[in-house]
Amino acid sequence: MSFRTHTCGELTLGEVGQRVMLSGWLARVRDLGGLLFVDLRDRYGKTQLVMDSTAEVAELVRGLSSEAVIRVEGEARPRPEGMANPDMTTGEIEVAVDSVEVYSRCAPLPIGIEDEEEPGEELRLRYRYLDLRRPRMQRNLQFRHRALQSVRRYHDEHGFIEVETPLLIRSTPEGARDYLVPSRIHTGACYALPQSPQLYKQALMIGGIDRYFQLARCFRDEDLRRDRQPEFTQIDVEMSFVSEEEVFSHTEGMMRRLFTDLLGVELRLPFPRIAYSDAIARCGSDAPDLRFGLEIQRSDDHFRGSGFQAFEAVLAGGGAVYGMCGKGKGELSRRERDELEALARAEGLAGLLSVPVVEDGLKGVLGKALPPERQQALRDSCQAESGDLLMFAAGDVDGVLVGLGRLRRILAERWGLIQPGRFEFCWVVDPPLFEPLPEGGGVTSVHHPFTAPAPEDVERLESDPLSVGSRAYDLVLNGVEVATGSIRINDPALQERVLAVVGIAPDEARRRFGFLLEALGYGAPPHGGIAIGFDRLVMLLVGESSIRDVIAFPKTNTAYSLMDKAPAPVDPAQMAELGLKFSKEP
Ligand code: AMO
Repeated sequence: MSFRTHTCGELTLGEVGQRVMLSGWLARVRDLGGLLFVDLRDRYGKTQLVMDSTAEVAELVRGLSSEAVIRVEGEARPRPEGMANPDMTTGEIEVAVDSVEVYSRCAPLPIGIEDEEEPGEELRLRYRYLDLRRPRMQRNLQFRHRALQSVRRYHDEHGFIEVETPLLIRSTPEGARDYLVPSRIHTGACYALPQSPQLYKQALMIGGIDRYFQLARCFRDEDLRRDRQPEFTQIDVEMSFVSEEEVFSHTEGMMRRLFTDLLGVELRLPFPRIAYSDAIARCGSDAPDLRFGLEIQRSDDHFRGSGFQAFEAVLAGGGAVYGMCGKGKGELSRRERDELEALARAEGLAGLLSVPVVEDGLKGVLGKALPPERQQALRDSCQAESGDLLMFAAGDVDGVLVGLGRLRRILAERWGLIQPGRFEFCWVVDPPLFEPLPEGGGVTSVHHPFTAPAPEDVERLESDPLSVGSRAYDLVLNGVEVATGSIRINDPALQERVLAVVGIAPDEARRRFGFLLEALGYGAPPHGGIAIGFDRLVMLLVGESSIRDVIAFPKTNTAYSLMDKAPAPVDPAQMAELGLKFSKEP
């Protein structure tokens, strides 16, 4: 039995006069002047069907609700004069239908398929198979597929081998909790699902694979947001005998290829590099958005000894004053400036002093409090001109930078400083190897503990760990961290030292990562790599704001699957087999 001679996105004037057969979903039915017009839809497009209103086939179709699945047969013919639709591939023809077969009827729809209006996300996820029929999701999944193929081709052409690493593994620390899988055969023991294939890709380098990549599924039990899912995909890459430069140029080449293949956009290479400390100082973030200015300036010196008491007190207490310049925003009303301050407070700042810049100096409190030379120097340091708005915040260094960093992004959106369709990549380099643990006492890895320290800092590993630099790097696109990587430690003794600094004593290190420490002792080449968050990258390329919109079956913010209702309680017999018993009531 045959289902179709063509798809619903295929017929043009070239097929006029042919007898054709199409299968698809009933999208729209209109009764007009004695004719019944029907749009039939599939993945490839829509075709207009036409039948005489009184014909038997019209009777049959009228009795169906939309989204029924049918097969039709008829003759392709040109649409009448003036009725062509130039926006559709099939817009110049219609099919005069004389036979209809119904494959499947459709119950009343919980969400619209054609609606421009967006259904609520809960309904979309509950009925994801219907949501996937919507043009937006069709476009996103096709785009994702093309991106995957482009990445595969690029790696293949560059001599990389795609290797699948296991999903049932021992825990690999990437800073989140593990999803555990209890073992039946080894009662009392669990596998972990990989947070990333990190240790396996390093083992592959020791295994002489030299250039590895994988579209790797990763699992992390962590707080979820619009750019985080409990399971997601990385373009995972590892290379032997490389330094940072080779990893950068490989990744830049892949991005260039993706952008030309998918968007027809020519990226300028190499991407700019910005030191981690500069990113924090200039943008208040380790993922700086370089699509707009609004950079942060440290302004302590302009206020020290200035007589402006509020800021002098902060400086005396060891704090700092930072400023930003809103270009052309000097005309904001008092009320609008109060709103700005409220925004700043909501982002954790103690306040925001906003001062319009005028021809001969500054207005407002600073205009009164500071002598003209100081006003001028302050203007110059922030590259402010008449008509701009200077904004200042004071407090402890880290807090103010983070707060201003968030405010900077909010203001860029509000003030329309971001040109649509603009893509700005940057490498963030030279981050520290360790950061203090939030609970105080001890340090933890900024990246992961397999990252190599900056060679010149190795001697201070134990004595002053927070001063040690690392050979890690992040790739940031439009203020979103899309990739992270590093040159790795390939010396077992150094690896043990770094693990010890993050509080993993030799015994525990051998228990948790014994195979890696051992493997490093059997001829480990210098190696390094990177992992690109594939979902995040696709989200940015298609212009979505949530990775859920580029994943076929995503989970909610509570890691729940609304469609199949996972996770779910399991059969007591299954639990018993695994030797498990929950101590908490569900
Ligand atoms: P990292 O943990 O930084 O590094 O992850 C690499 C990239 O993966 C993406 N990502 C996520 N995407 C969606 N949902 C999540 N929950 C999620 N978590 C991370 C981000 C991130 O930049 N093994 C190292 C890489 C290496 O050193 O080579 C790693 O996994 O875009």
